[in-house]
Amino acid sequence: MKALTWKGVNEVEVQTVPDPKILNSGDAVVKVLRSTTCGSDLHLLGGYIPFMQSGDVLGHEFLGEVVEVGPGVTKHKVGDRVVVCSFVACGRCWYCKNELYSLCDNGNPNPALTEELWGANPGGCYGYSHAMGGFSGSHAEYIRVPYADVGAFKVPPGVSDERAVFASDAAPTGWMGADLAGTKAGDVVAVWGAGAVGQMAARAAILLGAERVIVIDRFDYRLDQAEKVIGAEVINYETTDVDAELRERTGGRGPDVCIEAVGMEAHSPGLQHVYDQAKQQLRLQTDRPTAVRQAIYSCRKGGSVFVLGVFAGLVDKFPLGALMNKGLTVRGAQMHGHRYIPMLLDRMANGEIVTEHFATHVMPLDDGPRGYDLFKNKKDGNLRSVFVPAG
Ligand SMILES: NC(=O)c1ccc[n+]([C@@H]2O[C@H](COP(=O)([O-])OP(=O)(O)OC[C@H]3O[C@@H](n4cnc5c(N)ncnc54)[C@H](O)[C@@H]3O)[C@@H](O)[C@H]2O)c1
Ligand SMILES: [Zn+2]
Ligand SMILES: [Zn+2]
Repeated sequence: MKALTWKGVNEVEVQTVPDPKILNSGDAVVKVLRSTTCGSDLHLLGGYIPFMQSGDVLGHEFLGEVVEVGPGVTKHKVGDRVVVCSFVACGRCWYCKNELYSLCDNGNPNPALTEELWGANPGGCYGYSHAMGGFSGSHAEYIRVPYADVGAFKVPPGVSDERAVFASDAAPTGWMGADLAGTKAGDVVAVWGAGAVGQMAARAAILLGAERVIVIDRFDYRLDQAEKVIGAEVINYETTDVDAELRERTGGRGPDVCIEAVGMEAHSPGLQHVYDQAKQQLRLQTDRPTAVRQAIYSCRKGGSVFVLGVFAGLVDKFPLGALMNKGLTVRGAQMHGHRYIPMLLDRMANGEIVTEHFATHVMPLDDGPRGYDLFKNKKDGNLRSVFVPAG
């Protein structure tokens, strides 16, 4: 079958790879109808997560049709249209029982790499390097879905492919950020990053009852979506002093909840960017934590900061003093999607959550290299490139 693979730093190519097979009784094979790029893929593409091998199939957010099921699969049958959670979880271990699905003890068959890096391994993720299980990704005509009863969810008939594909990762990630940050009625919530993840965090905050939700980015076409489709207020950080503006909009106090949806390749204006990038390139820090720093500085005393952006290792100039003295709660997580996807599909069906505007560029898999160029370099108003592998 055809698949889009990682070739080397900043290089992808379309290749022929072996078809997936059922390996365990709980597996399904899914024909991929839609597979989207994600900000997380850019960290792989840029070589910031150094556990990729040439020829690895990329992609972790997808929707498709079940074409084969193992004998242990009870929830799905051939022909079902399903969206699959980007994280692989067993549904049975202590972490899964506690709804911490991205921390599943059994989802990652290569735990040693991350145990050494972080002291313990998270679960697995499709197409996300050998450190996250070495699973073949969804930018392919077919994909093996382990633990299919746990990770695949039937899509309600009225929800389009372009809407439902974002229930795989961006929507549950955003919802988790707003939820686990403790967003409650009347809160002011600030979100750094107007990509699909940031926009979904903003939408979740609105639906959880926040009084004001403010999204921060530098690309006006993304901020326009956050304003017009999501219903948030916006700030362009290139033309506005974010900290001063947030204080102004919160009566001098700062936001109650700050959600970071940017990650390790954050951009910052002026000298800080040169400094952070040089340190990252020299491996004096592995990640650029610009937006995390800003969220911690801007958050009100006693407030809550949630890191949704992906980080891999060490950061420099982490404002521990502000965190401690302002009494902040700082959390982060890979998404526990299984916990939210059924609820999100219901909200997609009743129109409370709209996501098809993310699919700015829908294309065949053969255009994968162009799709990644548009997404990485934010060209031509790109929010996400969505591939139609089996089309
Ligand atoms: N926690 C999870 O489970 C999970 C799941 C999916 C994605 N992610 C991560 O979420 C992050 C965002 O993903 P995405 O798909 O929306 O990516 P994206 O690249 O489409 O969007 C990131 C946005 O951040 C903006 N940005 C960069 N520097 C900024 C700064 N200093 N302040 C404010 N905005 C800034 C960019 O302009 C861009 O619009 C990535 O790091 C991704 O890896 C995490
Ligand atoms: Zn993703
Ligand atoms: Zn588990």
